[in-house]
This record gives sequence, structure tokens and C-alpha cells, in this order.
Amino acid sequence: MKASSIHIDTIFNNIVSTTETCCTTLWGFSSYIQTPEHTILFDTGSNGRILLKNMLSKGIDIQKIDTIFLSHGHWDHIGGIDSIIELNPYVTLYVTPHLSKNFIRDYRQQSRGVEVIGEKLTQIAPHIYSSGARGSSLEQSMIIECDEGLILIFGCAHSGVGEIAKLAAKTFKKEILLLLGGFHLENRSDEEIRKLMQIFQETHTKTIIPSHCTGERAMKLFHEEFQGAYIQGGVGQSLTFDSDGSVVLL
Ligand SMILES: [Fe+2]
Ligand SMILES: [Fe+2]
Repeated sequence: MKASSIHIDTIFNNIVSTTETCCTTLWGFSSYIQTPEHTILFDTGSNGRILLKNMLSKGIDIQKIDTIFLSHGHWDHIGGIDSIIELNPYVTLYVTPHLSKNFIRDYRQQSRGVEVIGEKLTQIAPHIYSSGARGSSLEQSMIIECDEGLILIFGCAHSGVGEIAKLAAKTFKKEILLLLGGFHLENRSDEEIRKLMQIFQETHTKTIIPSHCTGERAMKLFHEEFQGAYIQGGVGQSLTFDSDGSVVLL
């Protein structure tokens, strides 16, 4: 699968996009991911009303969604789930045991099905993988395997962006085209952030697009260190890839 066939819209974020002003910012994260075979909603932000408004602003058709991937059970990632299911119950949910048993039982009745991902890296669709439920938040990240390299998407990355990046690079033996989402570095020291930047180099990471819970200090250091390889993420941002796997903002 060519990276140029992937299209990602960030539709919920507490960070304003530098290029898009159509959407409302609110604490949380959600991305809408289109591949040749699937249309995936990655997390649902903290609020269904704002999620639907932002999707409408971006011209997104909710009926096209066939997969919902919930990174973990924190309120700012699952708050919009009911608004989506009400409009489109024909979806399969991929969740981790961080979601309560009652949530899983209820959504099984209201959707095509709910798959609970264990701790191992797991394929969920052609070219699309869950990292497995990791850390104390049992969080899963998404790995999309393209011919040119890997695309990794994080909700909060409570278990560590670096750990998942290393796992993906080692498993697939490919360079990383993009790390996108919340990097959860708000209270980390400069030394810890610099160690993470070292992992970005070691995993041959081409582009990073942090947002949500990454933290201002980390964003500033990334910007200074990586310059063109760093793009600030934000709500309403849309992107694809060119033929060599570089990010193209739309
Ligand atoms: Fe979060
Ligand atoms: Fe979280």
C-alpha cells in the first residue's frame, strides 16, 4: 500500500491548526483516517457535539466510517462515541481492557461488534495494526504499514511514544514516515525529551506531528531540533504523503 493512498484529518484537538480555522478547539483528540480499504475514526475527542460540528466543517461523511479505534478509556478520547454510533451503528470497535466491561457490553449491542485487543501487537485489517494494550493505561496506538514506511498514531501515548516507535521499527524493519497525535510530555524534563528525540533519530523518523497532550516545552524543543521534520498538529489539519513518503499538508 502506498503512503500516498492514506489521508488523515485531525478532527478534534485542543491545539489550533496553523493552516485551518474552520474547526472548534476543545481538550481531547480524534483523527479520521482513510485508507484504500477502510475508513477509521481514531478516538472521538471529549465531546460529541463538537466532534460532529468539526466533521461537518471538514465535509466528512460519518456513514463512511467502518472502524472505530479507541486508544484508551480516558474521557477526552471516548466522549464523542455515542454521537457517532447514533448516526452510524455499522462500525466495528477496537478497544483495550482499559474500557470498562459495561462499556464493552453496551457497545456490543449497539454496533457491528467490539474487539478487545490484548497486550500483543495485533493486525486488525490489511496493513493496519494495534500496538497492543500497553502500560498502566492499557493504551493502544495504531501502526499503518505502507511500502515506504510506517505511520504511527497516538491518543495520549501514556506508555511512551519512543517505546512504540522502537517496537514498530523492530517489528516491521521499516523507517517511520510519521508520528502523529498526543505525546504526553507535559511534565517531562528537557533531558527526557532529548532522549526521546534520540529515539526519533534511531528509528529514522521522517516527520513528527505532535499535538494534544504533548506540552509546550516539548513542542518548542522539537521545533528547534527538527525544523522541517516537525509540524505542529492541530484541529482541522489534513494531510497525505508524496511518492517518497513525505507528509503533504492539504
Ligand atoms: Fe488525552
Ligand atoms: Fe489519556
